[in-house]
Amino acid sequence: MHTEQLETVVLNQPCDAKVFKNPPSPELCVYNRPVRDIIKQKLDAITASKWETDQENAFFVGDLGEVYRQHLRWQALLPRIQPFFAVKSNPDPMVVKLLASLGLGFDCASKSEIQQVLDVCGDPTRIIYANPCKQASFIRYAAQQNVAKMTFDNAEELHKIKMLYPNAELVLRILTDDSKSLCQLGLKFGAPLDTVEHLLQTAKDLELNVIGVSFHVGSGCLDEHAFSDAVLRARRVFDQGQAMGFNFTLLDVGGGFPGADIQDGITFEKVAAVLGPAVDQLFPPEVRVIAEPGRYFVSSAFTICTHVIGRRTVQTEVDENASYMYYVNDGMYGSFNCILFDHQVVQPKVLRKGDTYMYGEKVESPEFTCSVWGPTCDSIDCLTNASRLPLLEEGDWMYWENMGAYTICAASQFNGFKKSDVVYTNTYC
Ligand SMILES: Cc1ncc(COP(=O)(O)O)c(C=O)c1O
Repeated sequence: MHTEQLETVVLNQPCDAKVFKNPPSPELCVYNRPVRDIIKQKLDAITASKWETDQENAFFVGDLGEVYRQHLRWQALLPRIQPFFAVKSNPDPMVVKLLASLGLGFDCASKSEIQQVLDVCGDPTRIIYANPCKQASFIRYAAQQNVAKMTFDNAEELHKIKMLYPNAELVLRILTDDSKSLCQLGLKFGAPLDTVEHLLQTAKDLELNVIGVSFHVGSGCLDEHAFSDAVLRARRVFDQGQAMGFNFTLLDVGGGFPGADIQDGITFEKVAAVLGPAVDQLFPPEVRVIAEPGRYFVSSAFTICTHVIGRRTVQTEVDENASYMYYVNDGMYGSFNCILFDHQVVQPKVLRKGDTYMYGEKVESPEFTCSVWGPTCDSIDCLTNASRLPLLEEGDWMYWENMGAYTICAASQFNGFKKSDVVYTNTYC
């Protein structure tokens, strides 16, 4: 897609009824300006409406251009593998709409994710229902909507599917080595290889249609070789299937692709350099290869801005230097739940100190040790306990980058704090 098309068709017509049956909000608009300018504009607007309720609420900037850049990067480095965006990582309506318009598929985990995607792209063949243990009524819904591709990893699920959707196109999710991943999904899902024969035999006895194999190396995978190892395991299962009379045509290499290139040296380039050749060596071109990347597309595209709502000075007898506790207005029970659930390490930067706007600027003033806390009354609500920041006052702002994955989607409203809104921009110009 050309830039112009991207801007007009995808980004600047968010309420286009042809694309959206249920537009997210009639007021939604997408700017075409740098993230720095959008935040500044938003902060200036807040100051202008000084006495309005909720004026200093935390907010996200979602950069749809960054999502698009990730799409281009994927196409360049893994052209054979079709991404099915894992909606669970960030079901933001604009992100889903953008990726739908770029022709991506979607990995859905539930009925409402399927509904959301069907509303936007209308094509059930672009969905894989990649949850190995599904609620019966959701399988019925998938059957009504012709969402045929779905994963399984146990015999009970096969019996359920036989009753509810006998023509489903089944994908056997196998267990892989996820010991190098931050979120080890193998604790919950994935058929060990020594159970594969029994599962395939059960599928055969039930006359079910198994079309391929999937795996997930774990979310936040830190070792690119986990992917090649998993591809090798999938090959073995393909061979087993063939020996039992199945004709597998689909390999699904799951998620686990790094989002922002900041974690322990792992990069998308490294994963692609290992995964692409492994797939080509072991699977002939007629096998369709898909993936379920989540954080890869959204992590770096979202920045959250939080307001300093309070400060406490901490004096100790042993150290004459004071340290500080800052309280901000989104936290662990909100968008920062990623610290708890997704093992993310977050880092605050100064956004506005007094009247000085500091996005992207080097801090010159002296720094002090500090911890940063969310707004609830719970002491688990600690975002970072050993940062260095210049002295901030109540009313100043911080920003936190790479906050697009597993953040807003799992936020609660505990203690009555609302979820942070998103302002959109497109920096791909
Ligand atoms: C089945 C499945 N696919 C894909 C993903 C997305 O993983 P990631 O965001 O690490 O790419 C997940 C994450 O939990 C998952 O459970």
